[in-house]
Amino acid sequence: MTKLTAFSGIQPSGDLTLGNYIGAIRQWVKIQYDYRCIYCIVDLHAITMCQNATQLGKRSLDVLALLLSCGLDPDNVIIFIQSHVPQHVQLSWLLSCYSYFGELRRMTQFKDKSTNFLNNSNNINVGLFNYPILMASDILLYQTSLVPIGDDQKQHLELSRRIADRFNSLYGRIFTVPDFYVPKFGSRIMSLLEPCKKMSKSDFNQKNVIFLLEDIDSVVNKLNCSITDSDDPPVISYDKINKPGISNLLSILSGLSEVGIYDLELSFKGKKYIQLKNKIIELVTYKLKKLQKRYFLLRREEDYLYEILSRGAEKARSEADVTLSKVYDVIGLLKSNTGFKY
Ligand code: TYM
Repeated sequence: MTKLTAFSGIQPSGDLTLGNYIGAIRQWVKIQYDYRCIYCIVDLHAITMCQNATQLGKRSLDVLALLLSCGLDPDNVIIFIQSHVPQHVQLSWLLSCYSYFGELRRMTQFKDKSTNFLNNSNNINVGLFNYPILMASDILLYQTSLVPIGDDQKQHLELSRRIADRFNSLYGRIFTVPDFYVPKFGSRIMSLLEPCKKMSKSDFNQKNVIFLLEDIDSVVNKLNCSITDSDDPPVISYDKINKPGISNLLSILSGLSEVGIYDLELSFKGKKYIQLKNKIIELVTYKLKKLQKRYFLLRREEDYLYEILSRGAEKARSEADVTLSKVYDVIGLLKSNTGFKY
C-alpha cells in the first residue's frame, strides 16, 4: 500500500528550542515510518526577518544535524533546504495570484511580527506578508496529506487548505488538501517565566527558553526557576487559565515522556511542585545529553550532511516538477517545445 505524504518545515533562524522539539520535531520522528515524510529547512522563510549572512548557511547545517540527532532517519525521509528547490518560489508566485490581501492581513503571526518593526508600517517587508503563501506552496507541491506542526502554525495551515480548495474548485483536483497533525498536549510550550506567552527562540529574556544545545547546568537552573503558582496546598493539575505555569510544566513532561496529562495528574496527586520539577529535570537532562552527544559528532561530518541535502533536494525537485507542471498546464502558461523546462 502506498503511504500518504507528510510534509513539514522548520526555520534555521536561531537556536532550536524545547518548544520546537515537543511541538514539532518529536512528531516528525514518530511518524517517519508510517508516512512518506518530507522535511524542509525553510531558509527562504527565515529571511523574512533580518539574518546574518555569515551565519545563515551554517545554521541550516546545524538544523539538519539536530534533526538527525533527534532521531530522523535520512535513509527513510527526504530532507532538504528550501532554497535548493526553486519550484517552491515558482509556485508561490502562482498561488499569490489566487490569494487575497484580506486573508493574509488577518494572519496573527504577521500581526505579531510586524509590530517588531517599531510600528513603522513602511518598513514591514512584503516577504513577511507573503510568508503564508510560500508555506502553502511548500506543502501543496508534494500532494501532502498531513502536516505535523505546533499550534502557532495552525492558522497558516488553514490558509493553505483554503488556497488549495480555491484552486481545485477552479481547475479540478490539482492539490491534495492537507490536514494538520497537532499533538494533543505540548502543541504550544510556553515561556518558563511568563507562561502566558509562547516559548520562542527570539525571546528577549533567555531565561524563558530552553535551547536544545544549551549547557545542561543552565537548563537545570532555568527549570528550577520556572514559574509554578502560589496555591496552598499545592495542586498539580492542568488548568491553562488558572494555573498556566503548572500546566506548562505538565505539557513539557507529557511531551517528553509521552504519558498523557490525565495520568500525570494522577501520579502527582498530593505531591509537591518541586517533585514535578525534579521529574522534568531528570527527563530533560537525559534527553538533551543524548541529543547533544549525537549532535556534536554528526555536526563535524559536513560531507555527509551535504550529501543528505543534495539527495533530498534532487528527489524533491523531481516530485515538485510534477505538481508544478500540472499547475502551469491548467493555468494555461505556454511550455517550451522541449517539455517542462524553465
Ligand atoms: P518554526 O521554524 O517557527 O517552528 C518549527 C515548528 O516548531 C513548532 N514550535 C512550537 N511548538 C510548540 N511550542 C512552541 N513553543 C513552539 N515553537 C515552535 C512550530 O509550530 C513549527 O511546527 N512557518 C513555519 C515553518 C514552515 C512550515 C512549512 C511548517 C515553513 N513551511 C510548511 C509546516 C509546513 C515556522 O516558522 O516554523
